Amino acid sequence: MSHAAVILSYLIASVLFILGLKWLSSPATAVRGNRVSGAGMLIAIVVTLLDQAILSFEVIVAGLVVGSAVGLWMARSVKMTAMPQMVALLNGLGGGASLLVGGGEFLKSELVNENLTLDVSITIQLSMLIGAVTIAGSLIAWAKLQEVMTGRAITFPGQKVLNALLFLAVVVLSAYQISVPESLLWPFYAVVGISLLLGILLVIPIGGADMPVVISLLNSYSGIAAAMTGFVIKNDVLIIAGALVGSSGIILSQIMCKAMNRSLANVLFGAFGATSASTKTAEGLTARQTAADDAAVQLAYAKSVIVVPGYGLAVAQAQHLVREMADLIEKKGGEVKYAIHPVAGRMPGHMNVLLAEANVPYDKLFDMDQINAEFERTDVCLVIGANDVVNPAARTDPGSPIYGMPILNADKAASIIVLKRGMGAGFAGIENELFFNPKTAMLFGDAKGSLQKVVTELKAL
Ligand code: TAP
Repeated sequence: MSHAAVILSYLIASVLFILGLKWLSSPATAVRGNRVSGAGMLIAIVVTLLDQAILSFEVIVAGLVVGSAVGLWMARSVKMTAMPQMVALLNGLGGGASLLVGGGEFLKSELVNENLTLDVSITIQLSMLIGAVTIAGSLIAWAKLQEVMTGRAITFPGQKVLNALLFLAVVVLSAYQISVPESLLWPFYAVVGISLLLGILLVIPIGGADMPVVISLLNSYSGIAAAMTGFVIKNDVLIIAGALVGSSGIILSQIMCKAMNRSLANVLFGAFGATSASTKTAEGLTARQTAADDAAVQLAYAKSVIVVPGYGLAVAQAQHLVREMADLIEKKGGEVKYAIHPVAGRMPGHMNVLLAEANVPYDKLFDMDQINAEFERTDVCLVIGANDVVNPAARTDPGSPIYGMPILNADKAASIIVLKRGMGAGFAGIENELFFNPKTAMLFGDAKGSLQKVVTELKAL
């Protein structure tokens, strides 16, 4: 393939990536966005294979078959609620690939006594550092979310100083390798080892509800590492794709921080969940219970209903029943809207994906800012498996770990029905005074079972 054809193909692939990202930002165009980005990646891969011919095709085909089989198995077997761990693992593999390519190029240059240019030397060190931090950090994030290790923040005295010293050591050792052409090998292994350690140490003090932000940040790191690798092997499309992943990961991290009213620095160094904050307890308070038939009557006569979906809805896989219930309420003359909190569930866009599965129309889904003023004019707020995102302690209790996080104003509705199995806490592990509000009625049980009963009752009315 001629050089011009390769460059042109990479340009087309890059444009497809950018268009794909743009379309991915709306549920209505997300499927198209996914396909277009996929097409861009296919072009990039095919052109790279034809251009470089660095490996024999047998090896590439074998890699493709094994990789696709593992990927297919993972994608099919992963539970929706375990997606964050899966994303963490995939980010980590991206970082690991950059570490291997950067490290491989360095060792190759040592072996054949090749004099690397300054830019290649610097980007090799950066891809090793960022790649190693990404893979080690992502594996820790995976272990935390998979509950292989404690999900709480792990802190110890002098942690930040130790991290700073390790980082300084990496900078010094990298500078040595860049400036001394035929450097010793031990600094190379030391850079890899210390960077892996840094990845572990940077993620262990992060816990609880901050994990999704970290995963998004690691996603960003994996992109930056890939972009650095692109400079090392002089591949334009890798630089562009890496930069897109790097910047979109940072933007997503910022969006999530904003949704939790935290700064990125506070998420990274604030050790959320390390200590149990002094939250109000509900001692002496009782929650009012209701039954499916009563809830159905209330919903049947409501003029306006706002559904607040949360993590429990995903666990129960009750999204199709929610849709069925909403259709029945609308047949009876009520209006149903869905209020989507940016960190409801366990991954960005979790509730959108869940409701899209049940073909809930997009125009019925409202972001927090769009819908929060409407709760006070709403007859019934139906909270299904949500907890932290409707916890008024975020507004009222400065001792609460979620204090300051914007929440959905469920408590402002005329009446509230909460579907959950019992009085279990949400992700943040804290009491929720909404459940003890005199306007709130608790419908206990698995959300799927409860909704099934409500739907049956609604049909009979
Ligand atoms: P949570 O606060 O986690 O609450 C979920 C509730 O669902 C629990 O209290 C649980 O109570 C109930 N539940 C569980 N299984 C159920 C079932 N089968 N049927 C009915 N109810 C069930 O959920 P949320 O309000 O969506 O808030 C999300 C939280 O996760 C936030 O703290 C957020 O910061 C954090 N987080 C978010 C993300 C992203 S990016 N979305 C990622 C990780 C963490 P019972 O046990 O009593 O049933």
